[in-house]
Amino acid sequence: MFRLDRRVALVTGAGSGLGRVFARALATAGAKVICADRDAGSAQDTAKQITSTGGEALALAVDVAEESSVMAMMEEVSRRYGQLDVLVNNAGIATQPHRLHELPVADWDRLHSINTRGVFLCTRAALPLMLKRRKGSVVNIASIAGLGGVSPKTPAVSVNYSASKAAVIGLSRQAAVEYAADGIRFNVIAPGWHLGTQLGREALPPSEEALHAFMSALQAATPMGRTGDPEELAGLLLYLASDASSFVTGQVIAHDGGWTAW
Ligand SMILES: NC(=O)c1ccc[n+]([C@@H]2O[C@H](COP(=O)([O-])OP(=O)(O)OC[C@H]3O[C@@H](n4cnc5c(N)ncnc54)[C@H](O)[C@@H]3O)[C@@H](O)[C@H]2O)c1
Repeated sequence: MFRLDRRVALVTGAGSGLGRVFARALATAGAKVICADRDAGSAQDTAKQITSTGGEALALAVDVAEESSVMAMMEEVSRRYGQLDVLVNNAGIATQPHRLHELPVADWDRLHSINTRGVFLCTRAALPLMLKRRKGSVVNIASIAGLGGVSPKTPAVSVNYSASKAAVIGLSRQAAVEYAADGIRFNVIAPGWHLGTQLGREALPPSEEALHAFMSALQAATPMGRTGDPEELAGLLLYLASDASSFVTGQVIAHDGGWTAW
């Protein structure tokens, strides 16, 4: 029930971090995977990792913030495969952390063009393909920051990021209700801290000592006492993408070592 043979899946932001993990997991389950990223070279690298182990993958360059770029990507998917079964809206950014009254307006706009508008544009473009077959699973990647405030003691989150992830949750719940009768499901993964990706690199403390203090604060705030490994997300993604979750829609699942369970 977790298999995705003969299914076509598209992952945005597949060139790095969690997106690369998602693309590889989908391919391992049998899906043909479109690895889409703003960075064409890194999307190619992910696709090569998949094809070199016998999977099927196609790399596409896309800027999810640009309507014309998203439309061109979806036209290519339609032309090559004629179907889309799984969409993982994963591409996202974080900006330098600032308190709200000091946050540059440009940082608000830039982040929302990708984290919020990008999810809307990709979903909007994907739905006609899913509606054709009356079947589909959309998995949107939010964050625990979309579920509640993050303490200033772990200063890596700003309101633009939290607001964008809360918006992704709202979009997903509304769409889940709107498209349930069409056989299209929408669910959300809200990851906690999964280090080792490129997200917010510049936001991490510069000195060894400050980084150590930051890590200790993260561990202390997590019941499981550690951060997550991006690879640990693969199982949850496969569950939501496949028929294993056929009666699950409109749900938000935190993957956070208990961060939101205190
Ligand atoms: N790593 C974590 O701990 C964590 C926690 C919560 C949520 N998330 C979310 O997971 C997702 C992936 O994050 P990550 O940690 O893997 O980050 P990452 O920076 O390693 O990967 C993000 C990818 O998105 C691509 N991208 C950025 N802007 C794009 C655009 N306009 N169009 C197309 N591609 C674009 C980047 O090129 C990159 O390959 C993000 O939505 C992020 O907010 C991550």
